[in-house]
Amino acid sequence: MVASDAPLASDAGVEILKRGGNAVDAAVAVGFAMAVVYPEAGNIGGGGYMVIRMADGRTAVLDYREIAPLAATRDMYLDDHGNMTNKSVVGPLASGVPGAVAGLTEALTKYGTMSLADVMAPAIRYAEQGFVVDRALARSFTGNERLIAQFAGAPLFLPGGEPLAVGARLVQPELARTLHRIVVQGAPGFYSGETAKLIADEMRRDGGIITEQDLARYKPVWREPLKSTYRGFTLLSMPPSSSGGVVVTETLNILEGVTNVPAFGSTDYAHLLGSAYQRAFIDRNEKLADPAFANVPLQQLTDKTYARKLRATIGDHRATPTPAVAKAMREGTETTHYSVADAAGNAVATTTTLNALYGSGVYVTGGGFLLNDEMDDFAAAPGKPNMFGLVQGEANAIQPGKRMLSAMSPTIVLDRNGALLLVVGSRGGPRIITSTSQVILNILDHHMILSDAVSAPRIHHQALPDSLQYEQNGLSAAVVDSLKAMGYGVQAIGGVGLINAIMRVNGGYEGMSDPRSSGRPTGY
Ligand code: DON
Repeated sequence: MVASDAPLASDAGVEILKRGGNAVDAAVAVGFAMAVVYPEAGNIGGGGYMVIRMADGRTAVLDYREIAPLAATRDMYLDDHGNMTNKSVVGPLASGVPGAVAGLTEALTKYGTMSLADVMAPAIRYAEQGFVVDRALARSFTGNERLIAQFAGAPLFLPGGEPLAVGARLVQPELARTLHRIVVQGAPGFYSGETAKLIADEMRRDGGIITEQDLARYKPVWREPLKSTYRGFTLLSMPPSSSGGVVVTETLNILEGVTNVPAFGSTDYAHLLGSAYQRAFIDRNEKLADPAFANVPLQQLTDKTYARKLRATIGDHRATPTPAVAKAMREGTETTHYSVADAAGNAVATTTTLNALYGSGVYVTGGGFLLNDEMDDFAAAPGKPNMFGLVQGEANAIQPGKRMLSAMSPTIVLDRNGALLLVVGSRGGPRIITSTSQVILNILDHHMILSDAVSAPRIHHQALPDSLQYEQNGLSAAVVDSLKAMGYGVQAIGGVGLINAIMRVNGGYEGMSDPRSSGRPTGY
């Protein structure tokens, strides 16, 4: 079973499974296919995280997050008056050194069974022969026309100045050639030689700072999975450089001490869950960062005794204000998560991103791919909000070679017997954490079936801005009024996250792509 945001990418994964590949082979196939058929977020010019759980009990997590280029400086996004510019979001300065190709090839080498040529075949086919633009993709091109139009991807995605329409065939010969170089040379096909030169040239042309040296020294990192428990279930998630696993763990630890979880959709549940998120995000925003550069108190934040203390600070009937530092919020969102489980019980949860839709907008001429704008995930000005309104501290300030803090939360849940139960993750910036954890809670605490758990309305709290957000119509008017009376700044927002999940059920797997968008699970 494969669940992803792009039906053709899910199909690519199943094609590999049917040929005898394992979940890692299929996940790598999906990753490369996404780079072709889902250019808004699927990528080779970005980075991500992968959580792997093999049927024999081995577990591993791979961090292939981007890093800051060597020439990056702490204040590179501030103007002469110390104000933030938009250069961390749009244009070549916004890009971190991509990790995707290093990550996917490394995962395949260590846990896969097939060759790069085999698993990349579907992606190369989609790039060479093209594929038909569906409604979701056409809307995505139209919605992002202004960004795309500024850079070298314009002739491909906006031929003759018009976004590709439904039914058009998108053929990407330059991307196909880049993928071929990766097949032949492995990761060096991206990080050195022709592709590296194309990236560095694109940078030089337009004021970017990623060099061939930056690319040559990029390395993904295998880390210890963050392992936690919730009411007897086991969670395997991402430790820093993502904040995802820590914040999910801290939130669930806060909830675990509550014996009678309030009913789904009730005021009490929104209060409890929102307050738990708020506390976990306060820690995230201050303390979490790349562990190679900052002292991260992982033990403390994931400790159940510490969670008990936090729980005690949640009042019965009052909101607690987040100590205010800065409250502005710039809205924005886009990433993609895919889940894979094979017949043997191996499972992979992967979240990967360019950050904003179409990343920095920069398209590598001759290379055929977009570059990320991940530098915005640093605290470009500690204490001031980034694109997601996250107000982060010194620990996550820009330093050369450092990984910017992420919220990506690919997670695998095991049942009380230690068998695979759930593979889950989301897109949505900080909402990745809240959406992923709510699907887990919907299943473990509210006993929903997977489709209900993924569809059910979600809430969000990220400490700053200090407001309890909920999906439009996701809470009843009476609950909203009660929350206001308790002192919450309550705000209705659009979708919280975009989930792709797989759950083990009697006799097999159930796959679910979020009805909030156009993904689709494929199984056989
Ligand atoms: O790593 C992160 O937390 C962000 N770059 C993720 C961005 C994202 O999910 C945007 N998508 N909706």
